[in-house]
Amino acid sequence: MQGVTIVDHPLVQHKLTIMRDKETSTAGFRRLLREISLLLCYEVTRDLEMTTRVIETPIMEMKAPTLEGKKLVFASVLRAGNGLLDGMLDLVPAARVAHVGLYRDHETLEAVEYFFKAPSDLEDRLVIVVDPMLATANSAIAAVDRLKGRGATNLRFLCLLAAPEGVERFRKAHPDVPIFTAAVDEKLNEKGYIVPGLGDAGDRMYGTK
Ligand code: URA
Repeated sequence: MQGVTIVDHPLVQHKLTIMRDKETSTAGFRRLLREISLLLCYEVTRDLEMTTRVIETPIMEMKAPTLEGKKLVFASVLRAGNGLLDGMLDLVPAARVAHVGLYRDHETLEAVEYFFKAPSDLEDRLVIVVDPMLATANSAIAAVDRLKGRGATNLRFLCLLAAPEGVERFRKAHPDVPIFTAAVDEKLNEKGYIVPGLGDAGDRMYGTK
């Protein structure tokens, strides 16, 4: 699938299986999502540009590798995006954070915005949009539209699970934004859920329903 990286690391796949299991508790689901987000973050940042700087070790001076450019932005699509965001910030604590508040209208499945806050200089930064489920792609497309409208030009989309329909719609709307995911499932059902999926990620993460 063009523009889609499937993170098929054994640890990611193992943890994802436990998350899919409906017997997994809220606490277990949240912990696993945090752990998986570290591994996904590792992959989505694998090719970041590097430079060097001169430091002094206790032994000698050396030119040591360091990240190039401005701090990353993680853009969390509320509320489920925060489940990925927390672990990613463990790994990249200096990242800036954007929040895009979108809910899914259950009738139309359209994304409706209720909150938006982002750093002002998005044009200079790599923006990694995070949302665990790429289902219809309505919220993912709306979030990226909004971030591009605020100047972002260099974006990646990171999720845990995707539906083929969502991948196709997202790639059509934003062919310049690569997708990183742990798996692409079979399909979407008539209610817009990913099949076999893991259910509603927000509800499973927060114990709501
Ligand atoms: N959002 C979810 O949380 N789960 C799905 O299966 C689809 C969208």
